[in-house]
Order: sequence, then C-alpha cells, then structure tokens
Amino acid sequence: MFIRFILLVASFYWISGAQANPIYLEAIEQRPDEKRLAESRKTIHDYREIEIREDLDQQLPPFHRRPQQPISQGETFCQMCHLPLPHRQSLWTRALLNMHSRYIACSTCHFRPKNVTFAYRWLDFSNGQVLEADASRFRAGRDLDNENLPDGNVKIAPFWQDQPAVPLPSSAKAQDIARLWREGDTEQKIQLHAQLHRPLEPQGLSCDGCHQEKKPLFDLQALGANPDQAKQIQRHVLPQFFKRNYDKEQKIRILDLTR
Ligand code: HEC
Ligand code: HEC
Ligand code: HEC
Repeated sequence: MFIRFILLVASFYWISGAQANPIYLEAIEQRPDEKRLAESRKTIHDYREIEIREDLDQQLPPFHRRPQQPISQGETFCQMCHLPLPHRQSLWTRALLNMHSRYIACSTCHFRPKNVTFAYRWLDFSNGQVLEADASRFRAGRDLDNENLPDGNVKIAPFWQDQPAVPLPSSAKAQDIARLWREGDTEQKIQLHAQLHRPLEPQGLSCDGCHQEKKPLFDLQALGANPDQAKQIQRHVLPQFFKRNYDKEQKIRILDLTR
C-alpha cells in the first residue's frame, strides 16, 4: 500500500521535470510514523464531508443579506479539501482565525518546518503572481468604508528559494493530490492524510506569533506596512487579550474584557 503511494508521489516529480519543487512537496515524501498513521486512521474513520449548499436562498428566506460573492472554495492548496472557513473547534478563536484566512495563507500559520527560514510575501492565489510590498494591501489604518482593497485573492504566504513553499491549487501536483483524495479508497486516504499533515503544525500559530514587536514571524514593513500600520497591528489589544486568556476556557466573559 505504502509503496503504491510512494510511486504515485514519485510520478509527480517525473512529470514536473527539473525545476525545484515547493519545499512542502519534499516534506510530504517522508514516511509518516505509526503514531501519525493511527491518528489519520481515526480522523478518516470519523470524517464526514460537509457540503456547502448553494441553494439555501430557495429553501429559507434570507434574514441577513448575503454577500454578492460568497467566499469561494479551493482558494489555496489546503482549501481543496478544507472549508472556506476552516476553523470550527474553538469558540474562542474560530471567528478571528477564519477572518485571518482571508489575508494570511493557511501555510503561514500551519507550515513552519524547523531549520528552514521562509521569506513572506504577498501572493495572488488567483494567478500565482507575487505582488510588490505595498501599504495599501493592509486593512490597518484605512477607512474601508470609503476605500477599496485591491482586487484578487491576495494573502501573505511563505516562500522558499523564490517560490511558494506550498504548491498552488491549480498546479499539476496539487490536482493529482486532489484526484487521489477524490478517487482513492479508505486506505489510500489514510496514507494521503498522514503524508499531507505530518509536516504541519496542528496548533497553527498563536496570536502573539505575529502580534508582537520583538520577534514577530514576519517583518510587516518588509511587506509594505508603514510604521503606523505596523505599530497598530503589533500592539492591537485583542491579541494581547487572547494571550492573557488563551486556553482558559471557551467562554468569553464581559468582565474579562474590562481587565
Ligand atoms: C486532501 C485533502 C486535504 C488537504 C489537501 C489538506 N487537508 Fe487538512 N485535513 C483534511 C481532513 C479530511 C482532515 C480531518 C477533518 C477536519 O479536521 O476537517 C484534516 C485535518 C486538518 C487539521 C486538524 C489536525 C490534524 O492534523 O488532523 C489541520 C490543522 C489541517 N488539516 C490543516 C491543513 C493545512 C494547513 C493544509 C494545507 C497545507 C491541509 N490541511 C491540507 C484533509 C486535507
Ligand atoms: C493566523 C493563523 C492561522 C491561519 C491563517 C490558519 N490557521 Fe488553522 N489554526 C490556527 C490555530 C491557532 C489553530 C489551533 C486551534 C485554535 O486555537 O482555534 C488552528 C486550527 C486549525 C484546524 C483544527 C481545528 C478546527 O478549528 O477545526 C484546522 C482544520 C485548520 N486550522 C485549518 C486551517 C486552514 C485550512 C487554513 C487556511 C484556510 C488555516 N487553518 C489558516 C491558526 C491559523
Ligand atoms: C501569522 C500572523 C498572525 C497571527 C498568528 C495572528 N494575526 Fe492577527 N493580524 C495579522 C496581520 C498581518 C494583520 C493585519 C491585517 C491587515 O491590516 O490587513 C492582523 C490583524 C488583526 C486584527 C485587526 C483586524 C482589523 O481589521 O482591524 C485583529 C483584531 C487580530 N489580528 C487579532 C488576532 C488574534 C486574536 C489572533 C490569535 C487568535 C491573531 N490575530 C493571530 C497577523 C496575524
């Protein structure tokens, strides 16, 4: 079984030829250990795919006005399988983490291999273009009621050797993985799930990984933020509140907010 999988993974490389592969594809070549496989076996066993209903408007009269363009599926490699708003478990953090997924790629928080230093850049996932550092890409300090953000599906993503650390969903390799996920049997799905998630951080990155001044994950000014924006983002009170109260319990009490 494992051999069959390795052959499949290896075939991605033959197709791709000489260009270096995104480092994540190298990371998923390594064999997951028994513990990881057992976790994936349980995950796949319990897994029920959630389908997004497109026709809800006909079923239920809308109460809240729906956005014209709902957040689309499959924006990033990870979202070929994960929902557009992937965080569900923690009542504490899920809304904020899902908000961040709009402008920060999944891989920025979840793929942080040791001994590798990534560069972080603005990447337009709709066409694979790297965008210049620019203050107007940030929401911080802007009057978004009267100003527009630039178009596209633009997020801060990790780069290694001048290419995205994780392949784009439109790449041939990503499509092969999606196909294996769709068409594979249960054993293949367990293998694939273990391979894909072994190099990832299930815990993501805590708020103060970025919202701090001393040693943030990336340099906001190198991404174009002006000094005021950088200060505003790094000193925002909400992540500090989360840092004090993280993991305490799932309910947020008004009293805590006033401390
Ligand atoms: C081929 C499908 C697929 C791809 C691609 C995929 N995932 Fe998953 N992932 C799953 C499934 C299925 C689960 C289990 C159910 C769930 O938690 O949604 C899961 C679970 C997780 C979990 C929960 C903890 C764990 O390890 O089980 C995290 C975190 C996660 N994925 C992050 C990512 C990130 C980040 C990426 C992109 C680098 C990614 N996934 C790509 C299918 C996928
Ligand atoms: C800003 C950092 C950040 C980004 C961006 C991010 N995550 Fe997470 N993610 C986390 C943290 C932190 C956790 C740990 C659980 C928690 O505190 O909610 C987590 C947990 C998860 C889990 C398991 C728990 C759950 O809520 O179901 C999944 C699955 C997951 N992330 C998938 C993704 C995918 C897919 C993306 C991209 C669309 C993504 N994450 C983007 C930080 C992030
Ligand atoms: C990977 C880095 C990263 C992590 C981790 C992260 N943030 Fe952020 N956050 C950012 C960046 C970058 C911005 C600025 C986005 C902009 O201005 O366009 C931001 C913006 C914000 C904002 C301001 C939103 C607004 O529109 O005014 C809040 C509030 C916030 N984050 C809270 C949190 C909390 C709470 C957590 C943990 C649950 C967290 N962040 C984790 C990078 C991160």
